[in-house]
Amino acid sequence: MSLIVCLPGDGIGPEVLDQAVRVLEQLPVDVEVKRLPFGGAAIDEHGEPLPAETLEACRAARGVLLGAVGGPRWDGASVRPEQGLLGLRKALDVYANLRPAKQGDVDLMVVRELVGGLYFGARGTLEDGTVFDTCEYHPTQVERLVRRGFELARGRRHSLVSVDKANVLDTSRLWRRIVDAVALDYEDVTVRHALVDSFAMELVTNPQAIDVVVTENMFGDILSDIAAAVTGGLGLAASASLGEGGPGIFEPVHGSAPDIAGTGRANPAAMLRSLSLLLQHALDREDLATAVSDAVDETLVSHPTHDLGGSTSTTAFGDAVLASLSRRLALKEEPWIPVPS
Ligand code: NAD
Ligand code: IPM
Ligand code: MN
Repeated sequence: MSLIVCLPGDGIGPEVLDQAVRVLEQLPVDVEVKRLPFGGAAIDEHGEPLPAETLEACRAARGVLLGAVGGPRWDGASVRPEQGLLGLRKALDVYANLRPAKQGDVDLMVVRELVGGLYFGARGTLEDGTVFDTCEYHPTQVERLVRRGFELARGRRHSLVSVDKANVLDTSRLWRRIVDAVALDYEDVTVRHALVDSFAMELVTNPQAIDVVVTENMFGDILSDIAAAVTGGLGLAASASLGEGGPGIFEPVHGSAPDIAGTGRANPAAMLRSLSLLLQHALDREDLATAVSDAVDETLVSHPTHDLGGSTSTTAFGDAVLASLSRRLALKEEPWIPVPS
């Protein structure tokens, strides 16, 4: 029995997570699903966004399925829901954040460094009122992320672009040196460097040419929303955050969408695709991962959600995915009967 910890969080987080849990519970997998407080909901209930009991359960889990955190309610608070998310990523050391973006002839994967860089460097306020955040990287932090990117490129179109701001930042120049050194071990992979500003443009104007992207935490945050936008929008974009064999975190790229929370308009496809990534990476069930993602793809066509110009509600989308899945799984389990000649 594998423990899957589910963290609904805030806004549309619980709405989309519910659909993923419904699907997970219908699948032929031996899992125990445990829902625990996280984010703003945990601040309200326990005074902190990542309660000790939640973190402990995540550490003991095979995988963590996460909705989204944050919202205007906690914007002025001394502790923010987002701190819980950053704390969880850091505690599980899930340094490689895989953000696939696929639609039509676009098929790319942003591999975002997730536990270093500008998000985790020194920060503070000086006496004169100056506030600072620092981008920091140790070479080993860059190397492990870059190696992950090369490994992924090997299983795809053998092409990798490293995105940085090496014309300005020392951390980017370090990043480039490490990419060039690691590249020697992957001569079958074509490598290039790109500056983040022009690469943002490239993502919009020529995304078909892009395969694997490795980049710093903050750049990856921004670029992955752009990648989502050019492949159908945030309602579709999933992610897997992986470390070295410990529990991974599987969550949509989008946030808590306070503007549509409670309206039934949230598209659960990104969350369901994150479940597919959990099946693939945490439970080693490539077959079920494919079944779920195929069912989602089919449902996006047959039952488009509001963000895609349709009118399917969050739960109705979940219903349709379940129906598609039960057809797919039943078909697969049917014994093969030879056609009489
Ligand atoms: P957002 O991603 O929540 O929303 C951006 C836009 O996309 C909104 O118009 C929203 O309605 C739409 N959208 C997002 N997901 C959708 C879905 N599944 N279906 C249909 N439409 C969808 O970004 P934001 O508004 O900038 O941030 C809101 C809050 O979410 C902030 O507090 C932010 O910190 C938090 N956030 C959390 C996560 C996370 O938990 N992983 C990620 C991003 C943002
Ligand atoms: C994301 C989100 C988070 C991030 C926030 C909510 C801390 O935007 O997962 O992309 O910046 O990493
Ligand atoms: Mn983001």
